[in-house]
Amino acid sequence: MTFDRSIKIAPSILSADFANFGAECEAIEAQGADWVHVDVMDGHFVPNITFGPATCAAIRPHIKGVMDVHLMIAPVDPYIEGFAKAGADIITAHIEAGPHIHRTLQAIRAAGAKAGVALNPGTPAGAVAPLLDMIDLVCVMTVNPGFGGQKFIHSQVEKVRDLRAMIGDRPIHIEIDGGVDPTTAPLVAAAGADVLVAGSAVFRGGSVSDPAPYGANIRAIRAAAS
Ligand code: DX5
Ligand code: ZN
Repeated sequence: MTFDRSIKIAPSILSADFANFGAECEAIEAQGADWVHVDVMDGHFVPNITFGPATCAAIRPHIKGVMDVHLMIAPVDPYIEGFAKAGADIITAHIEAGPHIHRTLQAIRAAGAKAGVALNPGTPAGAVAPLLDMIDLVCVMTVNPGFGGQKFIHSQVEKVRDLRAMIGDRPIHIEIDGGVDPTTAPLVAAAGADVLVAGSAVFRGGSVSDPAPYGANIRAIRAAAS
């Protein structure tokens, strides 16, 4: 993975057909997705359950580009090795998921993946300051994690601006996750975000057998953000 700050659209397969992940990943990449965002939920850290390392390993051969794994689980550490072996390029853990985020980030890099840290809407930007030398990505949650299709929380735009200033020249991506669509994408892009996760706004209207709407939706978000 090379670093740049151009806008990257990362469709979340949380909004894909769960019976058809391989074909869905191929369809969104063919329609212009830059990264594939994979939401792992445990029914404990967040009130929903999705899937684990075995599903990630199964979809990996269907993804040519970056597999961006967002762990909404607690504890995190016992599962890092499994997601790294499954082929995750980036593993993002929540700062709120346990008392030892520093150790977790070390373990992610030691397992050979890029390390991301995610912040819930109630967590301040300053929480990242002591971690800047050990992260490749910071994920700003613009909804409370757990479900797709929620409303964008506007108070988070200021947090993105603060993080962008804090990051300076460091090669750290700012990713936005939740409620991203053509109306909210320009707000976070202007504030300094470069990776835009979008679930419902990418998958709406399309399917594996009719994937053109995925492309139109991706282009609409990218155009609004650029
Ligand atoms: C929420 C997930 C998001 C979610 C985004 O917990 O982390 O990735 O799928 O979905 P939309 O874009 O529909 O808000
Ligand atoms: Zn996510």
